[in-house]
Order: sequence, then structure tokens, then C-alpha cells
Amino acid sequence: MIIAIDGTSGSGKSTLAKELAKRLQFGFFSAGDLYRAITVKVLNLKINENNDKELHHLIESTKIVYTFDGKQNSMIVDGINVTDKLHHEEVDNFVTKIAIKPFIREFVRGLQRDTANHNENIVMEGRDIGSVIFPNADLKIFVDCEIETKAKRRMKDYEKLGEKITLEQVIAELKDRDYKDMHREISPLIMCENSLLIDTSLSNVDECLDSIFRSMLERKLVTNEFLLERGISLIKPND
Ligand code: C5P
Repeated sequence: MIIAIDGTSGSGKSTLAKELAKRLQFGFFSAGDLYRAITVKVLNLKINENNDKELHHLIESTKIVYTFDGKQNSMIVDGINVTDKLHHEEVDNFVTKIAIKPFIREFVRGLQRDTANHNENIVMEGRDIGSVIFPNADLKIFVDCEIETKAKRRMKDYEKLGEKITLEQVIAELKDRDYKDMHREISPLIMCENSLLIDTSLSNVDECLDSIFRSMLERKLVTNEFLLERGISLIKPND
């Protein structure tokens, strides 16, 4: 089973996707983490985003190992663990320049397909999972959140990383990234017609997961027994 989770920047989709995978005991893959890992290497090597020749070479010579142990994901690039570097502000602001390149998207798509082939059940998270990568996904979810709430959460993440930035700056950066992701020519962020919409400004993680489990039951993707075997019970039992 493939669950595709797409959504806007800072909407909390990673937290939700990871928690969903953990509770269902599914695999997990974040495409954003892949684009971020490549961005970390590009920034380290100080490669100009317009230098496609060097970027091609970088893609061909980079070895990425992405794992999820059921709780945490880890990103190893050329033998170095870069997991802690993925969410720095510098990466946030550069990643759209990398994700726009067709040959880089092709590289990530290959890893996404391999991962899906190796996992019977997987939660895949990104911007184009339901629309382009797995249009036949069993369940498509679109995650969004009101901008001030997103920005306040993102500020806390930056504070933990020791980065100082104002709320206005975070709002501007999140809006800018969403604009770029929604308006690019290739694989823009869109909400698919049959997606389940989850608004994380209205509900906490448990409530969002509850809506997802309900939808899975309604769509007959899982049974009550399947959920109970994994220790999942609905907050309000189904009628
Ligand atoms: O989801 P996350 O914020 O980690 O994604 C970082 C960036 O990677 C996005 O802003 C987007 O530019 C790119 N991305 C993408 N397609 C995906 C997932 C992420 O273009 N499927």
C-alpha cells in the first residue's frame, strides 16, 4: 500500500507522515529530505545553481543512503551523516533551486521507486507524490496549515538549531517557497482531486491521525482488526 502525503512548506506533513508510518508500522520516505541532502552537498561544494554540468557530475558521483528505523529517519551522504543539517535556514532557502532541475528530480524519482519496490507498505511524503510519482497511490493526503501557525512552529525549530530569525522573515520565506513550488513548470505542488485534506492549524497530531485512520477504514484500506493489532484505537469510535 502506498500512502502519498503532499502539502505546503512547514505544514507539519513530515511530522504527520513519520508518525503515521510509525503507528501503522509502514516504511517512510521523505522526498524533501532527498532534495535537502543534495542541497547540503551543493552548498558545501559551493557549486553555482546554474552550473548544470557540475550538478550532473555531483548527482552521478553521490551515494545516498536513507533509512527509517520505525521512529527516526537518517540521511547518509557519501558516508557522512547529514541528518542534522537538512533543516538549516540556508538549506530551506536554496532547496527550490535544486528541486526545479529535471535531472535531479529524475534521480530522486529513481530512489522513490526503488524504496516503494522494497517496502510492501510505505508512507511517501513530498510535493508531487500523489500527482506525478504515484498517481495510483492507495490514499492521497494533502496537508496544509494557516501561515502564522506554520511560521511560529518553524521559528521554534530554527531556535533549536541556534538560528535567529524574525517571524516576519519566516512568513516571507515560507510564502516564497510555496509560491515557487506551486508555480514551477515541472511537478508543481497541487492538491489532487481525491486527496484527503488535513489542516494542521485546526487539529493536533493525534486528531489529524484519527481523521486519516477513519478515512482508511471508510475506503476499506484497513480493517479495525489491522488497526487494533498495531495498538491503534480511534479517538471517537466509529458509528
Ligand atoms: O518537504 P520539505 O520542506 O522537506 O521539502 C523541501 C523542498 O524540496 C520543497 O520546498 C520543494 O522545493 C522540494 N520538494 C519537491 N518535491 C517533492 C518534495 C520536496 O520539489 N516531492
